[in-house]
Amino acid sequence: MPCKPELRVSATPDALFHAAATEFATVASQAVKARGTFYVALSGGSTPKALYSVLARDFKESIPWQKVFFFFGDERNVTPDDPDSNYRMANEALLSKVPAQAENVFRIRGELEAAEAARDYERIVRSIFNLQINQVPRFDLILLGLGPDGHTASLFPSTAALNESRRLVVENWVEKFKTHRITFTFPVLNHARVVIFLVSGGDKASMVREVLETKNANLPSQRVCPESGKLLWLVDRAAAALVSGEHAHP
Ligand code: 6PG
Repeated sequence: MPCKPELRVSATPDALFHAAATEFATVASQAVKARGTFYVALSGGSTPKALYSVLARDFKESIPWQKVFFFFGDERNVTPDDPDSNYRMANEALLSKVPAQAENVFRIRGELEAAEAARDYERIVRSIFNLQINQVPRFDLILLGLGPDGHTASLFPSTAALNESRRLVVENWVEKFKTHRITFTFPVLNHARVVIFLVSGGDKASMVREVLETKNANLPSQRVCPESGKLLWLVDRAAAALVSGEHAHP
């Protein structure tokens, strides 16, 4: 059955990041009300930094940060103080600015050899979610970005991780960067209650249209479709500029 993402277009980047922060807070509040906790996987790259800054500045008092369990959808194979580290970016923009419980922040140990970092993180995820061997963690929210080639997390086109259906976390060799990444696999992304793609800027417009409107384009981002969850695409008008059809932006 084709996936039915919900597309919400914001007029400007500022409006987008505020809308995304509001959605984050709503999902967090619902999760804490229902289960007493909020399990979220943060995304990396550059786009979410503005979202994290809005959360730290405008939502510091309105989210029960001490009940949030932070994970990461992917990480570069670098140390946590490396400028490329997704953890470093999230820690500087958000985690160090809100009363998050340090023991509830689970970073991917990118400083390890990639395969060991993946095994290590899978052990952590299985332990924190108290999973049986064949179970998959159900995150309340997974944040994702969209790469110019249609990748998301570190699930890049033509890479081995795309075919992983059993492991939760894998090391993934990315030839174009000549490096390993560590990433959640599709089973984890597609078991979430809510997945949000956060996309900003005209440079993403053609890929947004391709992912949302070109059937069978065989892009990794097209394979993110929670089997029993909500799929939200939060984009600004520049990123939605080429989208038409039922996704026509206001
Ligand atoms: C990463 C992200 C990656 C990112 C996209 C978009 O580790 O870089 O997981 O999937 O979301 O590449 O990156 P930008 O937000 O920088 O455009």
